[in-house]
Amino acid sequence: MRIGILTGGGDCPGLNAVIRAVVRKGEGQYGHEVIGFLHGWRGVMENESIPLTIAGTRGILARGGTVLLSSRTNPFKTYGGEASLRKTLDEMSIDALIAIGGEDTLGVAARLADAGIRVVGVPKTIDNDLSATDVTFGFDTAVQTATEAIDRLRTTAESHDRVMVVEVMGRHAGWIALHSGMAGGADVILIPERPFDIDEVVAYLTSRHSAGRRASVIVVAEGATALEGTLETITGETDDFGHARLGGIGNRLTEEIERRTGWETRATILGHVIRGGTPTANDRLLATRFGLAAIDAVQAGEFGSMVALRGTQIVRVPLAEAVATLKTVPEERYAEAEVFFG
Ligand code: F6P
Repeated sequence: MRIGILTGGGDCPGLNAVIRAVVRKGEGQYGHEVIGFLHGWRGVMENESIPLTIAGTRGILARGGTVLLSSRTNPFKTYGGEASLRKTLDEMSIDALIAIGGEDTLGVAARLADAGIRVVGVPKTIDNDLSATDVTFGFDTAVQTATEAIDRLRTTAESHDRVMVVEVMGRHAGWIALHSGMAGGADVILIPERPFDIDEVVAYLTSRHSAGRRASVIVVAEGATALEGTLETITGETDDFGHARLGGIGNRLTEEIERRTGWETRATILGHVIRGGTPTANDRLLATRFGLAAIDAVQAGEFGSMVALRGTQIVRVPLAEAVATLKTVPEERYAEAEVFFG
């Protein structure tokens, strides 16, 4: 078989480990040819690809980013949808596709599967917000990097009696903020699932201050919002999938805390720092297992499926189920973090 593979959406540590595993097992054990489409769905629509071989994918396991490049192209919006895609697949004699992506890339894959295209999905996103899998690779690396940053910010906050606001990615789900905040001992964590009350945030800081703790660290997810009508925030332009470009809440909170308390407050926007760089051992392992499982799914003819982690097992789930709902932080998980606020 000739199998196409692509990486779409925001990049994520571990993508290269998936590619390497697909090629290693696809070529080495099944005798398939693997073709890499460049820049996600755009490469399929514009027929831009490179051959992938075992020899050519050596040494990429620990490399961040994606050797196949990525984009947020929505083939149903920017191009003629399924028809142009079929044209490339026919021209290239591609028998099956492996799409590695998050909700948007896999949403496209699910629509294509419905239209009869032979596609298998692999879940990736640092946000960990895909509901059909217990974890997505890239999340562990993002949490580790954010936690290291929080540890560093804590010591400088303490030297200067400052409040540090640390903004991390997560537009609809606060998993990164929750996990890195808990691991880094944050004094307040703000997530999109729970609109915050600025009075309550200031009250937490004030109670710490009264108890003699003059430095505080607040971890905020980029998608966190204040309770309606309590704090004005800014939203940016939207991408091909209609998502607003975020990244303003950390600065807005910083201004407001300083204005209300008079304490020196600084913002650090970790942004893409937590999405780049070498994957952790856990992410390399999960990504490798996903890659092996994806090529097995192709071999078994299980199209329209996505590989997923359930407990310690890698399983196959329907793509449609995988993109149906986002996995957000449940109340009880936030309650665990709240014990440590203030
Ligand atoms: O891929 C998910 C993500 O990292 C989100 O957490 C974040 O909101 C978004 O990507 C940023 O996208 P971009 O790199 O296109 O600005």
